[in-house]
Amino acid sequence: MTVRTSGTQPITIEQDIVVARQLARKLAQECGMRLIDLTKMVTAVSELARNTMVYGGGGHMDWQIIEEGMRTGLRVTFRDDGPGIPDLKLAMTDGWTSGSGLGLGLTGAKRLVEEFDLETTPGVGTRVTITRWT
Ligand SMILES: Nc1ncnc2c1ncn2[C@@H]1O[C@H](COP(=O)(O)OP(=O)(O)OP(=O)(O)O)[C@@H](O)[C@H]1O
Ligand SMILES: [Mg+2]
Repeated sequence: MTVRTSGTQPITIEQDIVVARQLARKLAQECGMRLIDLTKMVTAVSELARNTMVYGGGGHMDWQIIEEGMRTGLRVTFRDDGPGIPDLKLAMTDGWTSGSGLGLGLTGAKRLVEEFDLETTPGVGTRVTITRWT
């Protein structure tokens, strides 16, 4: 796997969720992603950016356009130094929320991408990486 381009976007204020969406859209277009796949990726990015903001207390979105053989992909990592997720199995259950959400963000995002990886440590933070290939 080779990295064509990469960057980091802070997720600090509410407006950064919009910025993250716009960035994901632009990057997916650069990858030559089909509209339907682009829309899935942007939706997943939006959910994860919101979680980073609301539960993680803010953090960063690291992105990479990657190449592997003939295919190009967009990989995005959301990381925060927030409280972490005490029960990951519960958090990955449809409809479970610790707040006032619908509890569909994580499970929805997972379904919308081809690769989903979540690492979390209580008291340390959370890191979620998603990838979609063209
Ligand atoms: N970055 C994070 N740091 C700490 N806890 C998190 C983080 N992301 C998710 N969680 C926990 O996982 C739960 C489930 O997240 P999910 O996005 O699925 O649902 P939600 O944000 O509660 O509601 P929705 O996204 O549907 O509006 C959250 O309620 C929260 O407790
Ligand atoms: Mg959510």
